[in-house]
Amino acid sequence: MQTVLVAGGGGFIGSHLCKSLLSDNFKVICVDNFVTSNKRNVEELLPDKNFRLIEQDITKSFEPGEKIDFIFHLASPASPNAKSPRSYINFPVETLLANSQGTHMLLDLARENKSKFLYVSSSEIYGDPEVSPQKEDYFGNVNPNGPRSVYDESKRFGEAITMAYFRKFGLNIRIIRIFNTYGPKMQKDDGRVVSNFINQALWEKDFTIYGDGSQTRSFCYVDDMVSGLKLAMFKDGTQGKVYNLGNPDERSVKELADIIKKLTGSESKIIFEELPFDDPKTRRPDIERAKEELGWEPMVRLEEGLQRTIEYFRSL
Ligand SMILES: NC(=O)c1ccc[n+]([C@@H]2O[C@H](COP(=O)([O-])OP(=O)(O)OC[C@H]3O[C@@H](n4cnc5c(N)ncnc54)[C@H](O)[C@@H]3O)[C@@H](O)[C@H]2O)c1
Repeated sequence: MQTVLVAGGGGFIGSHLCKSLLSDNFKVICVDNFVTSNKRNVEELLPDKNFRLIEQDITKSFEPGEKIDFIFHLASPASPNAKSPRSYINFPVETLLANSQGTHMLLDLARENKSKFLYVSSSEIYGDPEVSPQKEDYFGNVNPNGPRSVYDESKRFGEAITMAYFRKFGLNIRIIRIFNTYGPKMQKDDGRVVSNFINQALWEKDFTIYGDGSQTRSFCYVDDMVSGLKLAMFKDGTQGKVYNLGNPDERSVKELADIIKKLTGSESKIIFEELPFDDPKTRRPDIERAKEELGWEPMVRLEEGLQRTIEYFRSL
């Protein structure tokens, strides 16, 4: 049986990934300090004899105590909304270190163990893009010292050091740029647009749209994301490659609000507030490379994924 270490495995995407890897018959070690998530996410996995949780900050040295075959690195605060207690804006130094020092530590662990390594980067490395959709060879338009830079620039550093280990040491790495992902187990108070709207709908509060709502996002359901991450790790020919993973189905934020209102039957009003600094106007992945080389594309329609997410929020 092969062993997979999932750094950030207690988070939203990580906990789905751990569950899926266990059902694929891997032994899974989840490493997480729960800085932006809740242990509840992996509670159902704890009784599984092939699952082990190490509560640990990945920026500090640790010894997993067994041979690791694969490392997925997802450990980083991820929410941009400063109003959320879990936002990377409120954990600026932790975010910078998780993607720099943390990536360095995990790359060394991969070298020692001759593990395959997957670094989870973000569409935010494209900043406020001047081209749409964004292909992997677009270098981005990033403010190097704005409030979001702690995330954008540390993800860029994470990519650079991952590539350095590939070029210098021949480590078997790949980089995934995740675009907006949603689904059950996303943190209720993460301040991201999907959870905000669902909460507002279920509590009959006004929907808050930042700006005029014409800014666009594309939303990928978490099951699709997990299948893309696994293909990128396990399929041959992905070494040294960068892939966008996300759903190219682009919607305006206003349209998203209307769909959630309809699906929940909410009577809430929509109100408009000032757009946060550095908020990108458009975000849409070009996923041609993932389609061609991984044979991957999202399968879950937005309305269907939102329905499942609303049911999860209702169950809380
Ligand atoms: N959800 C999205 O839409 C999205 C978009 C782009 C990129 N990403 C990336 O995907 C990854 C997972 O995001 P998510 O949405 O599941 O967020 P999340 O906050 O639910 O998960 C991140 C996990 O990493 C853990 N973590 C953070 N710093 C750590 C540290 N120093 N040591 C150990 N654990 C640490 C957190 O406690 C959390 O469990 C992140 O790297 C994020 O940047 C997510």
